[in-house]
Amino acid sequence: MSTEILKMNQIKKAYYMGEEKQIVLNHINLTVNKGDFVAVLGPSGSGKTTLMNIIGCLDTPSSGEYILSNQKVDELDEQKLAVIRNKEIGFVFQQFQLLPRLNALQNVELPLVYAGVGEKDRRIRAKEMLVRVGLEDKLHNRPNQLSGGQQQRVAIARAMVTEPTILLADEPTGALDQKTGQQIMDLFHEINEEGKTIIMITHDKEIAKNARRIVHILDGQLREESA
Ligand SMILES: Nc1ncnc2c1ncn2[C@@H]1O[C@H](COP(=O)(O)OP(=O)(O)O)[C@@H](O)[C@H]1O
Ligand SMILES: [Mg+2]
Repeated sequence: MSTEILKMNQIKKAYYMGEEKQIVLNHINLTVNKGDFVAVLGPSGSGKTTLMNIIGCLDTPSSGEYILSNQKVDELDEQKLAVIRNKEIGFVFQQFQLLPRLNALQNVELPLVYAGVGEKDRRIRAKEMLVRVGLEDKLHNRPNQLSGGQQQRVAIARAMVTEPTILLADEPTGALDQKTGQQIMDLFHEINEEGKTIIMITHDKEIAKNARRIVHILDGQLREESA
């Protein structure tokens, strides 16, 4: 039995530039089950970031229904969005977005600081997660003392340390060379094998092939690639 953790019904997102209305997401339907590894593949300007922002509870749709872990997200205000976002979503970005003055351990601890986890506990959990991504000998290195691939591993550890329902990655290999990017995909495979649900946004067909499911986005509409 598959468990549904995300469902979008007829999601629409429009932007207004003065009088002009641009429909960026046009009646999107998407269901993601627990344990899925989904790639959303589309060219620049196709609406990927807009979709990611809605999936990640950073933005709300113009209309339609969005259900995440049995909660209706589409009508929440900023404050409630922040709560559900912190609990359900672990973000991984193209540019890593680590804090330069903090070492790897401190970067990974940060979401636990915000979650109110005590110092000793969060040190243990952050360390465990960094060991998990293969950085046990880099705990005290700052981002500029790490390679791009290592920085992305820290970012993945930071995204995972709160045990979110979904790991949501926007072009996670976009700033990496091909070999390093594939190593990050290998880590995603392992994380997914352990049961984590992953949604990955990419414009790169080869990177998308690492996922179990590929959903194409074009002109604001989704099309599932048959397996
Ligand atoms: N905040 C915004 N205001 C107005 N238009 C936007 C905004 N964000 C995105 N768009 C427009 O929506 C379309 C899709 O953008 P985006 O979701 O960033 O695509 P992608 O990530 O696939 O490149 C683009 O035409 C872009 O100009
Ligand atoms: Mg984008």
